[in-house]
Amino acid sequence: MKILGIESSCDETAAAVVQDGRILLSSVVNSQIDIHAVYGGVVPEVAARSHIEVINPVINQALSDAKLTWDDIDAIAVSYAPGLIGSLLVGTLAARTLAILKNKPLYPIHHVESHVYANFLTEVGIGDQEIGNRELPNSNSQILIATSAPAFPVLALIVSGGHSQLVLFRDHGDYELLGQTQDDAVGEAFDKVAKILGLAYPGGPSIARAALNGNPTKYKLPKSKLSGKYDFSFSGLKTAVLRAVQHETGVDFTFPSTGLAQRLNDVQRADFAASFQRTAIETLVDKTERAFYDFGAKSVVIAGGVAANAELRRILSERIPIHIDYAPSELCTDNAAMVASMGYYYSLKKQPISPYELEVIPSLSMAHIN
Ligand code: KG4
Ligand code: ZN
Repeated sequence: MKILGIESSCDETAAAVVQDGRILLSSVVNSQIDIHAVYGGVVPEVAARSHIEVINPVINQALSDAKLTWDDIDAIAVSYAPGLIGSLLVGTLAARTLAILKNKPLYPIHHVESHVYANFLTEVGIGDQEIGNRELPNSNSQILIATSAPAFPVLALIVSGGHSQLVLFRDHGDYELLGQTQDDAVGEAFDKVAKILGLAYPGGPSIARAALNGNPTKYKLPKSKLSGKYDFSFSGLKTAVLRAVQHETGVDFTFPSTGLAQRLNDVQRADFAASFQRTAIETLVDKTERAFYDFGAKSVVIAGGVAANAELRRILSERIPIHIDYAPSELCTDNAAMVASMGYYYSLKKQPISPYELEVIPSLSMAHIN
């Protein structure tokens, strides 16, 4: 079964074709990072307009990269929640229209849940050519994907710009939210700390890069203590970085935070990036390790944009005693291959939705299975 996935929940316009939930036939991502970098963050109206401009070419590219026509596509899967309302509307309207015009079943996909499915993509193919090569021979030519699908129960650490949560999947579509952030998402903390340090947007990759030259034990930053065993909090850590930078540069809390970065030298900047990254990542790994033992997980996966972080992968592999097969960074950040993969497993258990009835839900948590 070949599914076309469509993703437009935030600032990436993406389309992909996946066969049987695991064989990646194509994956096209049009990122708006350059457009939003000027403003230091995503501007919702600008994002929606940019999605409109590229959604059709991106979908056509996904079909042509896979060397397929509409006749070969069995169903459409689209992210309908959560995300920016204007962004979600573009992808869902495209998917609804195509489902009607091309007469295809339509599956509504929860964006955050779908991040986990990057880990279920284990083979690569193209058109009718032989399948099994793990390197994608088209637009994203350097992608090397995971070798085997995770075994249930799967413990998933989902960490992105909008979410930080630990979820236990007993099966496809059967999961329990174990814990989540009580304030900022970890990706949001990376982005905000990058701003304080004067590092480029998006903050995650900039901090990771700066941290390579830094000392992670230079500044002592607090790990928050929370009553929920598997919950997170990152707002205090962000404020602790702000206070430490003020202290280091000899100003008090009344000094405008936008002026702090110019007072830091490169060594201080790298040490702050490394110290923040180490503390944020240890916080994530501490809770993941605890849940791993408490629930006897057979596999652990990380998902979402922050899952691209090399230090997170390194420390998690050190602390968890089973092999972790990481998805490539390209499939950790927003993409449509994960949406198409989840669409397949969803279709095995649930009925399609009427294209006339699909509505977007900008804020929908994973607390309840829909
Ligand atoms: O999943 P994603 O692409 O979009 C959301 O659904 O939020 O995640 C984007 C987030 C941003 O906060 C970005 O700074 C962070 O993922 N990120 C990283 C890295 N690459 C992206 N954070 C830490 N290290 C990275 N290498
Ligand atoms: Zn995402």
